[in-house]
This record gives sequence, C-alpha cells and structure tokens, in this order.
Amino acid sequence: MGRLENDTFLKALFRQPTPYTPVWIMRQAGRYLPEYNATRARAGSFLALAKNPDFATEVTLQPLARYPLDAAILFSDILTVPDAMGMGLYFAEGEGPKFERPLRNEWEVRNLFVPDPAEHLRYVLDAVAQIRKALDNRVPLIGFSGSPYTLACYMVEGGASDDFRLIKTMMYSRPELLHRILDVNAQAVTAYLNAQIESGAQAVMIFDTWGGSLSAAAYREYSLSYMEKILSGLTRARDGETVPRIVFTKGGGAWLEDIAMIGTDAIGLDWTVNIGRARERIGDRVALQGNLDPAVLFGAPERIRSEASDVLAAFGRGSGHVFNLGHGISQHTDPSRVAMLVEAVHELSRAYH
Ligand code: CP3
Repeated sequence: MGRLENDTFLKALFRQPTPYTPVWIMRQAGRYLPEYNATRARAGSFLALAKNPDFATEVTLQPLARYPLDAAILFSDILTVPDAMGMGLYFAEGEGPKFERPLRNEWEVRNLFVPDPAEHLRYVLDAVAQIRKALDNRVPLIGFSGSPYTLACYMVEGGASDDFRLIKTMMYSRPELLHRILDVNAQAVTAYLNAQIESGAQAVMIFDTWGGSLSAAAYREYSLSYMEKILSGLTRARDGETVPRIVFTKGGGAWLEDIAMIGTDAIGLDWTVNIGRARERIGDRVALQGNLDPAVLFGAPERIRSEASDVLAAFGRGSGHVFNLGHGISQHTDPSRVAMLVEAVHELSRAYH
C-alpha cells in the first residue's frame, strides 16, 4: 500500500517518539465549513451525503485541504449501524437524529439482527476504500463506530434524549432486554469495524458519547464490558501494520483506570479532565487524546493559543498525546480559528518532544 508520509498520529497512539504533537479535530468535516454546507446542499441531505461514497470522500478531504491535520476521519455517522438493522434513521430538521421504529417491546428486541456490513453498510466500506485512495498515504484514515450503549440510547429512546428515561427504565426493569440489544450491537460493531479495517481504516475509534450518563456500576456492566468485547474481537494488524484503537467515553473521567484495562491503545478525554493528571493515572499504559474545550475556539486568537499551550504543558514532555478537542467542534466555529489552533499545536508542541 506504500508508506505513510505523516505517521505522527499512529506513532503517538503507540507512545513512540514524534517531532511534534499530532492533531485532528472531532467532527472536522462538518457544518462550520462553508464547503461542507455546499456539498451537503448538492447531496440534498446529510444522509444522502453520508450514503454516497463520492460525496463522503469529498467532505472527508475538505478539512485536510484547509489545515495541516495529522489524520483524516471517515465521514459517516455512528447511527448507520442501527439504520442497517432496519430501524429507519432520519433527521428531522433542527431536531437531530430519529428512528422510525425505535425498540419499544420485547418482540422488537428479540427480532434484532446483526447486519452484514458487506451488504447493509457497503456504502461505508466503499467510502473507506475511496478515501484511502484519495489520501494517497499523506495521513492515516480513522474508522469509527458508536459504542453498544450509545447506539442503544438512540435505538431505545428513538432519538436524542436529555434524561434517558426509556433506556434506564429498561435497564432497571428488564435488564435482560437491554443486554440482548447490547450483545447484538457489540457483534454488529465488531463486524463493522473489522470490515472498515479490511477496507483500509488505519486506526479505529469507539465513540461512547453517553456512557458518562451512567452510574459507576452501570457503566461497567452496560458500556465498558461491551466495548471490551469488541476490542477483543478486532483485527489487530493489517498489511503488517498494527491498527490502534481509541476509546472515548464522554464524561468518563472518573473511570480512566478501568478504561485503560480493556485493550485500547488510547483513551479520548473530554475537557473536564486535567490531561496531566490523567497521564499520571494511566499514561504508562495508554496514549491520551484530547482535550481542549471546543468553546475555546469562540475565544480571541491569543486565548486559543494560550489554552492550547496549557493543554500541551499539562500533558508535558514526551510522546503519547494526540491533540484534539474534548468533543465535536461546534457548527458556530469560525474556520479561521481552527487554522490558528492547528498551527499553535504544531509550533508549541515541538518543545515537548
Ligand atoms: O468527526 C468527523 O468529522 C466524522 C464524522 C462524524 C459525524 N458524526 C458526522 C455528522 C462522526 C464521528 C459522528 C459521530 C456521532 N454521530 C456521534 C458520536 C460523537 C459525538 O459527537 O459524541 C453521535 C452521538 C452521532 C449522532 C448524531 N449524528 C447526532 C447527534 C447528529 C446531529 C448533530 C447536530 O448537531 O444536529 C448527527 C448528524 C451529523 N453527523 C452531522 C455530522 C457532520 C451534522 C449533520 C448535518 O450536516 O446536518
């Protein structure tokens, strides 16, 4: 497949030396970019964009054309998996994702099946292969999926929720039903991530956006254990290259020691955690990714620089840090601020390597 021109991202995930700290941005291809909005308008909708490999390739590359980012991330969505299970994903304008047929009764849960990625998610695998070709080995491509629990939140609630009443009612009244959903999701995600690796993804990330809404005990039982199951089933190397894994539980700062034990190479941190303290706790076992508050990008240029500098200083000297935001970039971000951030990280981080 040829050699990567810039492998700083992969090296940092393996805690190997790099000349500077690599950086990419969660949701780097998104609505803050006018060129993304233009392509989305041509596609007609977000889903039409995500389901067409030509469009998905085009928008994946857009942020890389603007900024010297150290990784690309597949343009897709975590909810393609439940969509492939026949749940009928749609986006109601201004309301976020919704499902036509959420899981509400025992019969629906029993009928849930593991979709074959080669069939039901072909468009994602085609996009991965096409993006790899278009990247031409400049930077690595990250594949991703949602965690079984985060997917289950949307599948049971039927869309976004602020209290997770339905899924938590199931958890505390019919736990066996929730375990059945999580088991199917874990199998589906394992097959899906392995298919992405087979198609060319060079690292994989699991987004556990809602794991942090759980109690410590429930997190272990309903989120962490299923992510561990996935990691134990993932292809470890392809073409002789080890494929690193990143696990991101938003709100998971209290459980970093536990997350570091499940077979991940790196842990994504949200901005509530001090990355230096996180490194003291688990930095001898895994790399860390994060963790600037996305709202910092609403600040003045000097402030963006000083906040980035603070994150780099908190992590300190040596390898094992991938710079990122603590969550996805806001659609209200000025794209020129992202340029300043990427430049600041590349420039200021050299002192630590
Ligand atoms: O990081 C990247 O650039 C890759 C693309 C990516 C998207 N979604 C594109 C997207 C990734 C990695 C995701 C993951 C995702 N999707 C998560 C987990 C990460 C996180 O943010 O915590 C979740 C929970 C979802 C579900 C989802 N998809 C929501 C809640 C929304 C609505 C968001 C909103 O602001 O309305 C989406 C849609 C979505 N996924 C958009 C993008 C760029 C915006 C869609 C649009 O163009 O209108």
